[in-house]
Amino acid sequence: MEHHENDRKIVGLAPSRNLSFYGRDIISVRQFARDDLAYIFGVASEMRSIVRRLGATDLLKGHILANLFYEPSTRTSSSFIAAMARLGGSIIPIHGVQYSSVSKGESLPDTIRTLECYADVIVLRHPEVGASEVAARYASKPIISAGDGVGEHPTQGLLDVFTILSELGRLDGLHVAMVGDLKNGRTVHSLTRLLRLYDVHFSYVSPDILRLPDEVKDEMTEAGRTFEETERVEDVIADADVLYVTRVQKERFADLREYEAVKDYYEITPELMARAKEQMAVMHPLPRVGEIHYDVDDDPRAAYFRQMENGMYIRMALLAAVLGKA
Ligand code: NCD
Repeated sequence: MEHHENDRKIVGLAPSRNLSFYGRDIISVRQFARDDLAYIFGVASEMRSIVRRLGATDLLKGHILANLFYEPSTRTSSSFIAAMARLGGSIIPIHGVQYSSVSKGESLPDTIRTLECYADVIVLRHPEVGASEVAARYASKPIISAGDGVGEHPTQGLLDVFTILSELGRLDGLHVAMVGDLKNGRTVHSLTRLLRLYDVHFSYVSPDILRLPDEVKDEMTEAGRTFEETERVEDVIADADVLYVTRVQKERFADLREYEAVKDYYEITPELMARAKEQMAVMHPLPRVGEIHYDVDDDPRAAYFRQMENGMYIRMALLAAVLGKA
């Protein structure tokens, strides 16, 4: 297993049950092996049953999470808050950095060094690729990336794989089609990298200008995974076990005319779903802005709301694990 250079920051007595996650940063899904995923999914399943039976636990009582968001978020920020609250911990929410000392010109390292005086773990979303790695270099407490620009979104990748497993009961042997903005969609980058650990065949469906970056494609080839690229969902819909749909990432376009040209490229409709397998899952990291028609929501194969709920269980598992309590 690959370890990040800042792994195991918290020195002292490691608890007996989670030696591999205790004190680790969660920066890129490349740091995980299959065993790590099995472990985190096991803890997430326990968290799901605890929440369903009891609502909450006091596992992280007395612990504090700093939630530092330099980019907009609804699901990721609120699911981390909910996760920490359901574990009995507390939260320092910094979601409008314009109201923090960031607006006075404070650097990321100084903001991180400040928050770790008060918190035990820091969740960071930032518009620059590599920002969470920079933060991790300065921090002595665990940093969990909540998305760095067009780079990665590791906790989303984990919850996506957990969802596929919950929906379909397996990962090996699946055909996963990813649709939309594969160039700028960080959730796509993290998910495809995680799935390279399994015997998965990929279809990358996007307009020409939004193709998956070569760097990610090369990693898939090196891992022995097969894929094809196409512009048409119609080419893959009948064979896909997972249709992972994404929003065209408007905020990443320098020229908004380019965005306008591709923003309505795909729409998953009930008519299209009629051609899909009976047992499959439609997923989306959300927010959606037209890529999935509202009439698809009642289809039992529409997994995106369950996917969102799974995010809280995965984040509960990660918080408990990096703090040595899982
Ligand atoms: C995604 C993100 O922020 O990358 N949202 C999320 O965290 N669920 C996807 C998106 O914004 O399109």
